[in-house]
Amino acid sequence: MGDNTRATDLLIESVLQERRQFPPPKAFQAQARIASLEQYHQLCQEFAQDPQGFWGKWAAQELHWFRPWTQVLDWQPPQARWFVGGQTNLAYNCLDRHLHTHRRTKPAIIWQGEPGEVRVLTYEQLHQEVCRMANALRALGVQAGDRVGIYLPMIPEAAMAMLACARIGAVHTVVFGGFSATALQERLRAAQAKVVITADGGWRKGEVVPLKPQVDQALAAGQVPTVTQVLVVQRVGGHTPMTPGRDVWWHELQPTLSAECPALPLDSEQMLFILYTSGTTGKPKGIVHTTAGYNLYTHLTAQWVFDLREEDVYWCTADVGWITGHSYVVYGPLSNGATTVMYEGAPHAGNPGCFWDVIQAHRVTIFYTAPTAIRTFIKMGEEHPRARDLSSLRLLGTVGEPINPEAWLWYHRVIGGERCPIVDTWWQTETGGIMIAPLPGATPTKPGSATLPLPGIQVQVVDRQGEPVGVNQGGYLVVTHPWPGMMRTVYQDPERFRRTYWEQIPPRDGQYFYFTGDGARRDEDGYVWIMGRVDDVINVAGHRLGTMEIESALVSHPAVAEAAVVGRPDEIKGEAVVAFVILEGHYQPSEALKQELREHVVREIGALARPSEVKFTESLPKTRSGKIMRRLLRALAAGEAPSGDISTLEDQSVLERLRD
Ligand code: WTA
Repeated sequence: MGDNTRATDLLIESVLQERRQFPPPKAFQAQARIASLEQYHQLCQEFAQDPQGFWGKWAAQELHWFRPWTQVLDWQPPQARWFVGGQTNLAYNCLDRHLHTHRRTKPAIIWQGEPGEVRVLTYEQLHQEVCRMANALRALGVQAGDRVGIYLPMIPEAAMAMLACARIGAVHTVVFGGFSATALQERLRAAQAKVVITADGGWRKGEVVPLKPQVDQALAAGQVPTVTQVLVVQRVGGHTPMTPGRDVWWHELQPTLSAECPALPLDSEQMLFILYTSGTTGKPKGIVHTTAGYNLYTHLTAQWVFDLREEDVYWCTADVGWITGHSYVVYGPLSNGATTVMYEGAPHAGNPGCFWDVIQAHRVTIFYTAPTAIRTFIKMGEEHPRARDLSSLRLLGTVGEPINPEAWLWYHRVIGGERCPIVDTWWQTETGGIMIAPLPGATPTKPGSATLPLPGIQVQVVDRQGEPVGVNQGGYLVVTHPWPGMMRTVYQDPERFRRTYWEQIPPRDGQYFYFTGDGARRDEDGYVWIMGRVDDVINVAGHRLGTMEIESALVSHPAVAEAAVVGRPDEIKGEAVVAFVILEGHYQPSEALKQELREHVVREIGALARPSEVKFTESLPKTRSGKIMRRLLRALAAGEAPSGDISTLEDQSVLERLRD
């Protein structure tokens, strides 16, 4: 086991003592799509008997195909091709096919801006807007296969932009609006984007956050030569400098465009999007997902895990800049013809009831958020949710990090009124969709456990050699069978794909293990308890960050000679960023310099990576081979005495000095 799980050790201890079980509430179960454990086991059985038949059946039943596939899966590890020879279109599945039904006039998106304005787009209206945006992209020279950068706040145009790309076979790469100009530039350059879709700005925590200036900075001086045009959505108003010949206002172009744009029949394996995520190096990885498999997987998992029904008003609070926003704000719900709520803002001290207002105003029935948000609400006080009518809710979900049983129980009691099942969903950018989660009408839940793998998903907890570990023993979580939503590669780096995910645990007898990077254990009921990352990835407020990325950002500052970044347990954020910094000889430690370094990280990456603490030091604990012993730094950051073996530490006095 790696030594990165310390941050969650405390959690695991409390979880180990957590023995409570919550059977699916009777009233919920009575109407559920999958309404018993027997039904769940039967689906698993169907898969085990005929994996390809299983996925093939669902694909035929749930998606529209312009041309049927000839082979469900072509598996040349680690290369998977799903629904080989088939043609479909994700935007068609999310929009057009609903237009022939009563869903034509059903709200597809209910959007609320942070200042309070509301926009409702029916499936018909969303279809028209997506067609217009697809025509806009074409007018700007985008063709199938071209990459389009999307850097937008949480406004309907973000979903439109994604669907417009999918409609014409362009590849979107969404960059979270909280990333800095430098981080945006790096991603646009890596993806060789041709067009960028952005907005003048957005509202967040009571303030306007400018976006277009970040794009200008990212593209300045031909830094990303592939980008030829920028489409700008007017969201906040005010003066926005436009670069002639490059920048185009969406509201000026939009009325000139046709609301017709046929969905292009696309190969099943047509690249759909690249989403950059943090790994164990300083360079983010471009996770590649393709059309049909991703469509099917997000569609089915949304249906199963959220038990989607026609009349649901479904709200996932994630930003479209993350995978959760891709799969469960936009594609999964719309493919199912559901009503999806988009909210622009984020809770902060000035609006502690904002989420509950949204639920009350739109009669939200399914609510999906991150444990860090729940912990923030606990701190803000029960009176805020208590003062709203949350009786429309029937199902709650969490994602992104382990949930501590206390937060689970609060969520259950205060938000769910003890009547809503909770689905704790484990998955990753790489997996495309939810992998381990309860089926709310079938699976008894245990606070803190994501419970059981979904039908069609096979996981194991193994040691370094791929040998399964015993009941309740910690090990590496791996997936042992390909699934339609799996990532296909790291953009332009198939070697990194192979190395990072398929060779960490050596393949044996033709059996390949997808390495998740998470530690886990399974209990006597087979329930999975996630123990956190075993690599140098940390999870800050549900955001995935690479410690090496933050270290490279720090080292790019002239005052910094060397830096080591670790996560420290944090009551609200799960983990907080702590940076140990060695200064260049002629720089003196000072409060001002600490502040400057924190802001430097914000400029290089974004506010999400801002260190909570910077500690100056003269040396770092290293092994004789020169590797930083992060385990020791983590203990120091957490204010604990470093435990375990320190015999490999090159200079024993370093610890003393660091402690002082
Ligand atoms: C963590 C987010 C515990 C995990 C969808 C994973 C979780 C990483 C859970 C992926 C959960 C996600 N319980 N840990 N329910 N869900 N994680 O790519 O460490 O942003 O590897 O995808 O988040 O983060 P990512």
